[in-house]
Amino acid sequence: MKKIAVLGATGSIGRSTLDIVSRFPERYQVVALGGGRNIRELIALARRFQPQLLAVQEEDGAGELTQALQDFGLSIPVMVGQPGAVAVATYAQADIVIAAMVGAVGLEPTHAALKAGKDVALANKESMVMAGRLLNQVAAETGAAILPLDSEHSAIWQALNGEPKKGVEKLILTASGGPFRDFSLAEMGQVTPEQAMRHPRWEMGPKITIDSATMMNKALEIIEARWLFDIVPERIEVLVHPQSIVHSLVEYVDGSVLAQLGLPDMRLPIAYALGYPERLALDLPKLDLATIGQLDFMQADATLFPALKLVRRALAAGDSGAIAFNAANEVAVERFRQGEIGFLEIAETVEKVLDQVTREDFSTLTEILDFDAQVRQSIL
Ligand SMILES: NC(=O)c1ccc[n+]([C@@H]2O[C@H](COP(=O)([O-])OP(=O)(O)OC[C@H]3O[C@@H](n4cnc5c(N)ncnc54)[C@H](OP(=O)(O)O)[C@@H]3O)[C@@H](O)[C@H]2O)c1
Repeated sequence: MKKIAVLGATGSIGRSTLDIVSRFPERYQVVALGGGRNIRELIALARRFQPQLLAVQEEDGAGELTQALQDFGLSIPVMVGQPGAVAVATYAQADIVIAAMVGAVGLEPTHAALKAGKDVALANKESMVMAGRLLNQVAAETGAAILPLDSEHSAIWQALNGEPKKGVEKLILTASGGPFRDFSLAEMGQVTPEQAMRHPRWEMGPKITIDSATMMNKALEIIEARWLFDIVPERIEVLVHPQSIVHSLVEYVDGSVLAQLGLPDMRLPIAYALGYPERLALDLPKLDLATIGQLDFMQADATLFPALKLVRRALAAGDSGAIAFNAANEVAVERFRQGEIGFLEIAETVEKVLDQVTREDFSTLTEILDFDAQVRQSIL
């Protein structure tokens, strides 16, 4: 029986993970769940999975949750804030931690899980973007594994399986292109948060949905891939593929290209990571290529999507560049969602921040978190 702790249990990835877990009660047991502010959802999850530890973002939520659990005759300790998320991430009984919080807040618990020697199934790409070098080093020290959950990185992981690394020519990350792939720059300037929230292929949380519309998501994934697969960024490319069926590809030195295909459903990569090296028999709709008929591929337009150029600058600026890139994007996305800035100003904010960054590499979590806070402060 594999024991599982889920950070971000109330989110899109968290819920998909728990869907997979509930299909295999003989294989998986949920021992700890962390959520944010959605207390109603966490109450439902706590009743269903009866974990041994819960964590929420705020004190008020903890009170409400504890009271509701008592009313249902359940007594489960509830912790709060980052210490709560870290407690879930390091929960002694857990064998694997699903890192599915959104944003930089996911870094500290992900780091703590690896430090405690827990295998981490990583959805929280922001933590790898900010601290890939450090997380890899901690994992190497404790023997913990970092298993990709992002569909693109899962596809690459699968396409690399059993191949000697020296045979790899490049990694090709596919991108749906989001809802504005065919827009002009002028049309992009008028995009509202409601429009940006409608992704054509994937059902996801609000931040990654907007990141997909700006293609910041793909930019973050380039940095994520750089660390997950320990490959120089020059060997990572992006290819637009609107149908989101080919989840990514690996080109080898002999010209062969291996890809992983599947319907766009995050439960597939989640099940792959949970079951690895075994494949779980999933009773889900199967890919029918004859019905799909056609798969399209095209170059990404870096004029429409400046994120794809900015990320190369960020990578050239070392750890400070990647942290600044991520922090500026998080702040800008939030401002866009609040209606304070326009859609194109998300990339402009990131560019302005990168203009100020000088290259610096960091070796501790404190240095990384301090620099992240410094960047956010500089934008206010
Ligand atoms: N969704 C996808 O298909 C997908 C695919 C690949 C990668 N990812 C990555 O996976 C991560 C999660 O994405 P998502 O789409 O699942 O996001 P989401 O639906 O917005 O869920 C985010 C989760 O994080 C929790 N959370 C947010 N702030 C928190 C805080 N300060 N303390 C504790 N918990 C907090 C939320 O809690 P409440 O809701 O309770 O407030 C929720 O459980 C992101 O890094 C994203 O880039 C997602």
